[in-house]
Amino acid sequence: MTKAELESLVKREAGTGYAPRIFRDIQKVIEDTGGRSGALIRVLQQAQGLVGYLPPPVLMTISRDLNIPLSEVNGIVSFYSFFTTVPRGKYVVQVCLGTCCYVRGGQRILDVLKKEYGLEPGDTSPDGLLSVDTIRCLGACALAPVVTLDGQVHRRVKATGVKELVSHCK
Ligand code: FES
Repeated sequence: MTKAELESLVKREAGTGYAPRIFRDIQKVIEDTGGRSGALIRVLQQAQGLVGYLPPPVLMTISRDLNIPLSEVNGIVSFYSFFTTVPRGKYVVQVCLGTCCYVRGGQRILDVLKKEYGLEPGDTSPDGLLSVDTIRCLGACALAPVVTLDGQVHRRVKATGVKELVSHCK
């Protein structure tokens, strides 16, 4: 994709629902970094903080303004699990599937989330309340299986306790 094509795509997408203020805020973040390509991860993190996720128009804007090929930006976003290109729920449940957690019941926790809420890793409930993700070892293996809910770590979670945990999401 040429720079001109990228420009017109960003312009077109920017007019389709993403508030201009968000784009201005993202451009301010980029300006604050001096437009250095080495700031890509920081810019992506802050953009995700502003929008909640990283939709294509945002990635295109960042690609254009940091002068980094879109393919490279997409590569970074897909490499790091903390970046998401889809909207996430108000609450995010992350189930550790590192070896210890897997062996001690991580998969059973995921099974409950699937059975009770119809959610698999990467899914968000239709009401936008809950998203489910998996993570790899959090370094708390002795307390496996580990689940995080909105960044808070819950240890030795039993499959039977998942509904109780999720019931706090309102
Ligand atoms: S495997 Fe889950 S915390 Fe280490």
